Amino acid sequence: MIILKPENERKLIIDILKKFGVPEEDAEITADVFVDADLKGFTSHGIGRFPKYVIGLKLGNINPKPNIKVVKESPSTAVVDGDFGLGQVVGKKSMELAIEKAKNVGVGVVATKNSNHFGIAGYYSELAMKNDMIGITITNTEPAMAPFGGKTKILGTNPIAIAFKGNKYKFSLDMATASIARGKIIEALRKKIKIPEGCAVDKEGKPTTDPAKALEGCILPFGGPKGYGLALAIEMLSAIGGAEVGTKVRGTANPKEKCTKGDLFMVINPEFFMGKEEFKKKVDELLEEIKTSEPAEGFEILIPGEIEERNKMKRIKGFEIDEALYNQLKEICDELGLNIKDYIE
Ligand SMILES: NC(=O)c1ccc[n+]([C@@H]2O[C@H](COP(=O)([O-])OP(=O)(O)OC[C@H]3O[C@@H](n4cnc5c(N)ncnc54)[C@H](O)[C@@H]3O)[C@@H](O)[C@H]2O)c1
Repeated sequence: MIILKPENERKLIIDILKKFGVPEEDAEITADVFVDADLKGFTSHGIGRFPKYVIGLKLGNINPKPNIKVVKESPSTAVVDGDFGLGQVVGKKSMELAIEKAKNVGVGVVATKNSNHFGIAGYYSELAMKNDMIGITITNTEPAMAPFGGKTKILGTNPIAIAFKGNKYKFSLDMATASIARGKIIEALRKKIKIPEGCAVDKEGKPTTDPAKALEGCILPFGGPKGYGLALAIEMLSAIGGAEVGTKVRGTANPKEKCTKGDLFMVINPEFFMGKEEFKKKVDELLEEIKTSEPAEGFEILIPGEIEERNKMKRIKGFEIDEALYNQLKEICDELGLNIKDYIE
């Protein structure tokens, strides 16, 4: 069994990024988002995704030293041009700007363009939550899903993450609008396992559990036409800063293409509504009602984000990675003059 410790994952990602000229602080931000994904158990967006970033850096599609600029601004809004920097760096800076605006004027809405894949959407919403505000993050991705009833990939797997907290409970929903994240299909392909039924169709539009056929075909949205509707809304709203939509969105899954997607980071400050303390009391009241309600037989009632919190406690000491991923990481280390044994025993 190959075990990776989170502190070693962080160091490995930082050391590799620095070899490509990424400044220390930016490398740390990027590594933190990857480690958060792996700790939460979102392994589809953990270190397994990192080799694609290395390809993007090698090809120059990810700019290691971007000049991230605010190109349009009002007290509550901004458009950020990421200069094709790492999506995590552009994402964190954009969410921090949205938080600052919400502190001052009650809401902050920041859109990005010319960025790259940013990992888990929930990382950014939780930054707002940690400031006692409501964080909402959406992004569009290169086509993976057909419109409901269709068989042509037009929409991305378009995740949405919403986070807020009370004094006792927190809510952190972080989900793709696809019935399965594309990263999970890529992971299934690497691990040579099937994907669950009802998540994807092959290129003929027939249901499939084969990850390779699913990647050639289409992923289905969650919840039929409702998931499709939400994915379509996210597709458009994520691009409000001037990014691309539909089949023109490239480079989030395929690192060989320049990335054209957009993100939208939204923050609402409860202090400007019912008041921060009152809001937290209400959050606890609602989530207490949920948690103490009677579960159906064989179930436990959970709040979105709770599974990930539990995963964090289990995975903090280290988590298993598969051999194929280990080999990919070893190859990267060998090429860059790093020793994989310094990170993974
Ligand atoms: N950057 C990108 O382009 C991109 C694209 C797609 C997905 N993603 C990321 O992929 C990750 C995985 O997405 P996913 O849709 O596979 O997540 P998932 O299906 O594992 O979880 C979705 C949400 O459901 C909640 N949940 C699960 N079981 C629950 C239960 N029994 N009760 C209450 N809540 C429950 C989880 O806490 C989570 O908030 C996310 O972090 C997402 O942001 C990123």
